[in-house]
Amino acid sequence: MKSFIKLASLLFLLPILTFAAEVEVLHFWTSAGESRALVEIKKAVQSKGHQWMDFAVDGGGGENARAVLTQRVATGSAPIAAQMKGTEIRSWAERGMLANLDKLALAENWDTILPPSIGSQMKYNGHYVAVPVNVHRLNWLWVNLEVLKASGVQEVPTTLDDFFLALDKIKKAGYIALAHGSQPWQDTVLFESVVLSVGGPEFYRRAFVDLNESVLTSATMQRAFALFRKLRNYTDSRSPGRDWNLTTALVIRGKAGMQIMGDWAKGEFIAANMQAGKQYACVPSPGTQGSFSYTVDAFAMFKVKKADQLKAQEAFAKSLLETKVQQKFNQIKGSIPVRVDISADGFDTCAQASMRDFSDAGKNGRQLPSVATHMAMPLDKLTNVYEVVSEFWNDGQLSPLKASQLLAEAVK
Ligand code: BGC
Repeated sequence: MKSFIKLASLLFLLPILTFAAEVEVLHFWTSAGESRALVEIKKAVQSKGHQWMDFAVDGGGGENARAVLTQRVATGSAPIAAQMKGTEIRSWAERGMLANLDKLALAENWDTILPPSIGSQMKYNGHYVAVPVNVHRLNWLWVNLEVLKASGVQEVPTTLDDFFLALDKIKKAGYIALAHGSQPWQDTVLFESVVLSVGGPEFYRRAFVDLNESVLTSATMQRAFALFRKLRNYTDSRSPGRDWNLTTALVIRGKAGMQIMGDWAKGEFIAANMQAGKQYACVPSPGTQGSFSYTVDAFAMFKVKKADQLKAQEAFAKSLLETKVQQKFNQIKGSIPVRVDISADGFDTCAQASMRDFSDAGKNGRQLPSVATHMAMPLDKLTNVYEVVSEFWNDGQLSPLKASQLLAEAVK
């Protein structure tokens, strides 16, 4: 009887053993919060009998990862999957590099469990080629409450005017008022929040999604540029080139008062054992209440041939949308689940607010694709936008009028 059970369990394991393979996934999650969150995906893959082969490329925002991916594909050794965003998925699919995931999508009901707007970004010509894992919100303000109090600021600012008043006080009290890492993508994160605040959601959409020239060069855009530059006075001399997570660390350690950054920053607060509402606050970036600029982390699946690789790829794709991964990964990462059927229980107050706001924003057309993180426009245009925004941030001589004209040029 015993040996029969042994034999039966061996037979049961056989398919797993036969098809076990390495899941090589290219990603750029290397900060404390990101690495901790990734463990949840790794565990889910390993529990299906496959080996996780980490292929991490350092560099927030994923610019380095994109370069490495291009090289790997050029040399005929694409990984099984690579982390990427909406407009990039499309460009790899156009080149015929991505696998068709329709069978799995049908079996797992992706059309039902994903918001249609996000599901459609995972498809090319109507076929699934990528899998999303979360929704990150960009327009957040992160605040160290102790620094705020010590600087004599009574309330967490909700308008741009109050934001500048708070920055003045924090600076005067001797702290870095605004934690900012000046890299092109981070400059653009800050810029898009200011544009959203100054112009509102409709203006944002007409500028960055429709790429409307007269909106891009409008007086409102020029005002946004001017206010954006004003923020530079509140940053520290070590800001140029600093990584986003080291910048968040300044807020965490009480060296800086506030940071405008996507909610991957929350992953760092959590990793540092800080609690929302106690040591730090999360509020929509000033003047952007009701709007939700978002980015979706997704993995595009590259075409593979061998049966074991196919199985491993499928196991990885499936893991990303499993309920447990959706809960645990997102609770650690700072994002919210991309599945529409996950309860808010177990998520912190920032995430619960984010879930509510995402759903409300969806109902009134205020879900906006983030510019800085590749959701709004193709990569070639975005690269030009990065250049204009950063040049303006760094070059005090460039006028808001000229910058707005360069911006319109950049997206032509
Ligand atoms: C991604 C996040 C990541 C952040 C910093 C964003 O574009 O969506 O997942 O944590 O960049 O690298």
